[in-house]
Order: sequence, then C-alpha cells, then structure tokens
Amino acid sequence: MKKRTLIVMMALLTAWVGCRADEGMWIPMLLKKYNIEDMQRQGFRLTAEDIYAINQASLKDAVIGLGREGRPFSHFCTGELISGEGLMVTNHHCAFGMIQAHSSLEHNYLRDGFWAASRQEELANPGITASILVRMEDVTDQINARLTSDMTDEQHEAKVVEVCKELEKNAVEGTNLHAKIKPYFNGNQYFMSVFKIYKDVRLVGAPPSAIGKFGGDTDNWMWPRHTGDFSVLRIYAGEDNEPADYSPDNRPFRPATFFKVSAKGLHEGDFTMVFGYPGTTQEYLTSYAVEQIQEVENPNKVAIRTSKLNVINAAMNSDELLRIKYASKAASVANAWKKWQGEIKGLKRFNTVETKRQEEDRFRQWAQGNPAYRDLLDTYRKLYDERRPLALAAAYLNEAGRSGAEIVGWAGTVYNAMSGKSFAEDPAQAKSKLKARAEEYFKDYDAATDQKVLVEMLILYNRGLSAEWIPAEVQAAAKKGIEAYVANLFRKSVFASRATLDAFIDKADTDSYRKLEKDPAYRLYASITAFNRDRIQPGLSRIEQQVKRLNKTWLKAQMEMQPDKRFYADANSTLRISYGKVQGYAPNDAVYYKHFTTLRGIMEKDNPDIYDYDVPERLREIYRLRDFGPYTQDGEVPVCFVATNHTTGGNSGSPVLNADGHLIGLNFDRAWDGVMSDLQYHPEICRNISVDIRYVLFIIDKLAGARHLLDEMEIVTE
Ligand code: ARG
Ligand code: ASP
Repeated sequence: MKKRTLIVMMALLTAWVGCRADEGMWIPMLLKKYNIEDMQRQGFRLTAEDIYAINQASLKDAVIGLGREGRPFSHFCTGELISGEGLMVTNHHCAFGMIQAHSSLEHNYLRDGFWAASRQEELANPGITASILVRMEDVTDQINARLTSDMTDEQHEAKVVEVCKELEKNAVEGTNLHAKIKPYFNGNQYFMSVFKIYKDVRLVGAPPSAIGKFGGDTDNWMWPRHTGDFSVLRIYAGEDNEPADYSPDNRPFRPATFFKVSAKGLHEGDFTMVFGYPGTTQEYLTSYAVEQIQEVENPNKVAIRTSKLNVINAAMNSDELLRIKYASKAASVANAWKKWQGEIKGLKRFNTVETKRQEEDRFRQWAQGNPAYRDLLDTYRKLYDERRPLALAAAYLNEAGRSGAEIVGWAGTVYNAMSGKSFAEDPAQAKSKLKARAEEYFKDYDAATDQKVLVEMLILYNRGLSAEWIPAEVQAAAKKGIEAYVANLFRKSVFASRATLDAFIDKADTDSYRKLEKDPAYRLYASITAFNRDRIQPGLSRIEQQVKRLNKTWLKAQMEMQPDKRFYADANSTLRISYGKVQGYAPNDAVYYKHFTTLRGIMEKDNPDIYDYDVPERLREIYRLRDFGPYTQDGEVPVCFVATNHTTGGNSGSPVLNADGHLIGLNFDRAWDGVMSDLQYHPEICRNISVDIRYVLFIIDKLAGARHLLDEMEIVTE
C-alpha cells in the first residue's frame, strides 16, 4: 500500500473511532439531524419520528421524569410506562424514599416488599411528580435577538433570565402545561422543554430490599451485580385523563403510548438505547478543574463521609428499628461517597489531567493569534488557584458542617420557619405545619447516633483546615473539648427530642425564635452559616460566575478548533438518548467480565450472616425447585447486564430499549471502573448496569404472585 493511502486510511479510522457511538447523550429533537443514520447503522430498526414526534404518539410519550413538587424539572430519576393504564416501572432505589415512608415495624415494606393486591391498595406518595415531555424547541435565536453587544456580563445574564421567563410563560399560557428553558453546550444554546406534569403517583409494588437492593452498598457501583433494582408505580389522572392533585376518585392515567416488554433475550453486541433524564455531567472541564476534583474535593468529601458512615452503619447493625430509620439516609450518603472514590481511581488510571493538559497545549498553539481565546487557559489557571482553598473550606462546611450531624441543619430549618413571614402572619397554622414536619423528621431520627456523628464531624473539621477557614463555634468546640461540648449541646438543645421541641412550639409566639438564638445547636448552625455567607460565598460565587462565563467561551472555541468533531451537550436533567451495545469488558489484565449475570450468581453470594447477601428463603426455594417459568436464557434466569450506553445520575430507572424500541431492562447504575464517565468517557471501560426485564417479570410472577400486573403489559417473545 502506498504510504499516502495508508495515512489517509489511518486518519479516517481515527475520525471514525473519535466519534464512537457509545459516547454522548443526545437531544431527542435533533436525532434526525445528527444520530439516526448512525443508530441505524448500529442496528436500530426504528425511525427518528418513532422516538420523538410532536404530531403523533412516539416513544418519548412513555418516558417519565420523576420529580418533586416545587422542583419538578430537576428529575431525580426516570421511569417508563408499560401499560395502557398508567403502570410504570422505575428502580427500587428511586422509590426507596416512598417505600420507606410507608414502612413501620408492623408493615416493614422495606424488608418484606409490598404488593398491592388491587388498585384500592395502591399507596399515594404526596409530593412526587411525573413529567411527560410534550415538545421541545430551540430558543437560542429568540434569546440572542434580545441581547446587544454593549451589555455588560451582568446585564447580559439578567436579560437571559428575563427573556426565558417570558418565553416560558408565553409557551404555555392558557394550558395546563409547564415550560422550562435550560442552557446547553455551556450556555451557547438554549432549548425549551414543555411538559405535562402528573401529581398523583402511587406505589403498586416493590420487592423486598434483599432483592431490590441485593448486594446493598457493598455491591453498589460494582459489576458483576445481582440487584433486582425495580419497583412498580402507577400514574393517576383526573376524570378527563389530565393531571390532577391526589384524589381517591382519580383514575389510572391512559397514556398516548407505552413500551412493549421484550422477553426475547439479549446477546453481546446487541444494539441498546437508554432514554431518560441524565442529571449532570462535566465533559468539557479543563485540567485545572479536574485536578481540583481529584486532589481536593473528592478525597476530603470521601474522608468526612467515611467517618459518618462508620457511626451510622454501626447503629444500623445494632438494631432493626435503627436500620429502618437510617436506611434511606445511609444509602444516599454512601452512594456519592463510593462514586467519588471510583471517580478518583478512574481519573488516575486514564491520566485524565495529563491528557487534558496535552489537549490544552494544542489549544494554546491554535489560539496564539486569536485575542479572544489567547489568554483563556491562563485565566482559568488563576481562577482555579484562587478557588482551591475556598473549595476545600466549602467541602468541610457542607459535608462536616451543614449536613454533617442532622441536628445542625434541623436547628436552622426550625429557626427559619419560626422567624419567617408565614409564622408572623398565621402563627397557629405555621405551628401545626412545623409540628407535622417535626413528626416526620423525628420518625427517622436517633439522637444518640447523631450525637456520635457530631463528635466525629467536629474532630475532622478542626483537623482538616487551618484556623482561618474554621467557623468560630467549631473552633470553640475544640477548645472546650469536643466530647463535652457535644454532650452539653444535646443535653440543652430543644432540637434533640420531639417532646421538647413540640412543647417549645406549643408555647411559641411570634417572638419565640429569639429564644432559639441561645440554643447551642442553633448557635453552631448560625456560626457555620455566617461563615459561609461572609468568608466563603463572596469569593467562591465570584469565581464560579467567572468560570461559568469562561466555560461558554471555552466550549465555543473548541468547537471552532475541531469543526468535524460531533460534540454533545452535557447532561442537564433534560430528556436524552444514549445508544451503544450490550457488551462485557476487561477491568484488569487477564480478566474479562461477561455482559450478564444470573440467579445462580445470587445463590453463590448467598450468606445469611451478611445482611447485604441474605437471600430471601422464597427465592432459595424457587431456585432449588428450578421453578423459573419462561424467564430463562440457556437454562438460567438472567438478572443484570452491562452495555456501553453513556449514562449518569438521573438515568436511574430509564428504559433500556432494543433495536425494535422494546423494553429489555431498567438502567440503574454504572460499573466502578468507569464512573469517571461524568468527566471523561472511555468506551473500553465505561458500562451502564441494567436489571434484565425478564428478572423483573420473574420476580413479579414467581415471588410476588402478582400476575395481574403482567396481564396489563404487552410482552413480546418473538
Ligand atoms: N449507584 C446507583 C445510583 O447512583 C444506585 C444507588 C442506590 N443503591 C445503593 N446501594 N445505595 O444512584
Ligand atoms: N445510580 C444512578 C442514578 O440513580 C445512575 C448512575 O449514576 O449511573 O441515577
């Protein structure tokens, strides 16, 4: 072969590899323009309109963004409709808070699972919202048309906010829809999403945690995995099938479409697509930013959470009631804690900081003659140098301070409620609201455990920072002796028990909040908050504002420098599509992880002495009898599988679809080795983990005996 041909071929090959299908989270309304041909080349058999259309039903109508009242657009998870009567599946860990809220020692749904035998038994979850995307629209030009070149940065930003509000309002005027504009590509583009938001979402079923959270925090973020991470919900609507507040008279929602379930089975190499609401990624950070995450933020946050978890886990292992109380909290503390560690590991393994530095060197060369871009990276460097001590102080303030021991944040919550406007206006009503909140708070609270947490937090806070970054009260605690300080705080504070707090609230008038200013827990809270306001935020938010502006320019410049690269927008909690294929991976030399796990693996892990691996007796029995029904592949029940779809937090519960757009699984996690995909995606090692839909069907059928739910679904076997 001639040398020139070889070079051309190599260039083509790198270009092709450079835009590998697996990486990226794509915008549904732009699939037709950017992705559908590639998707079809990878095996997808539907059209772009089958996925996203506004004049006819399309798959997007069956994808649900799960949110909370008051902030319905920051979707904490994704769900999908699987019947014509509003039946929806999502992860067990997504509904964990709902399951926990309905649990008590008498009805321990966390431990035993829950299955509504009839529609009447389905349980309401006030505050949970379910959004369906109606349409989206590129509004960049409409926003830009209102900006002028003589505006300062501040004027510019204020104008964008103003125009967005106006456009959102106009878009849904006179309808029951909700519109939200979000920036994409670091603010170089804006899209508006218009939603219909349902407000009556009920719990239909959940497996016991020993299935839905099998492997617990031990296996979390790990592959091979055997977690049956699913739960079943149902959306209800008013008589007109439109969104309505909870009412016993509401009816199951009748959606425009729902996913067919595929029990056909899957093979390595099969096309897969994930359709959901990824929360946040930061793929276009500079080396300076990544270095700070890797060296400063993650390691310190991890250390603080480690000592917190030591206390909480010991409490949970000592007592069944404490296990219920702290289950949800411990899971959320442990989740990010473990991910940050995986992220550090991955960043080091792939030398991300160094690779980014090299890319930045190339950028410097390219930008030399360009005054708009020439100093960009030096400005970044200066800002991140300034940011370092502030970021460290903020990590302690948040992790060890405000959300360290619960009593600290709780003191702030109550104080703010009692000194607020609504308390002054209608004390009687505000008091009963506050007491209801206290009831909820104390249901999952154990003062003795929290006291131990506070001791640990104050020790770390004083040890981890130099005095100039430690709030006065935290320093004072160390001077008095932390054990003694904390013991005194818990003895004297009204926030430590429900009885004392209730009594205080009962007697309270509009001036009573002043008394709280002497409360030791409140004083700690106040000192921490003031420190944040006076010493950390002014600097940190100034820097972050500037970084945000630079980020916009930085991405724009990269797009100019690499005009042939297919860029994708970072996740921002809007509906996206990732596609790739079912595929195992090699985590280490000489090791290859297969793409799927089976029930056999659950039995291999089975160990009644280890909480996370204690398999329910009923499942053991089914396994002994090999009563698997039709839910097998090569004689075993499949449980989980991995694929190369680019996903992140928020994608949990997302439908995983095959080439025909049928549901083959529920996304719920990523493999440890590749969790740095939020910052940099590596196709050889980044894998999303899904529960195989056949395991879901198997559990519903054989373990829950809830065949009536299967009858609602449309299950495809050919
Ligand atoms: N790692 C998954 C995600 O980020 C699942 C978390 C829930 N499971 C757990 N064991 N804490 O959300
Ligand atoms: N487990 C995550 C979630 O809850 C998904 C992920 O981070 O991969 O959304």
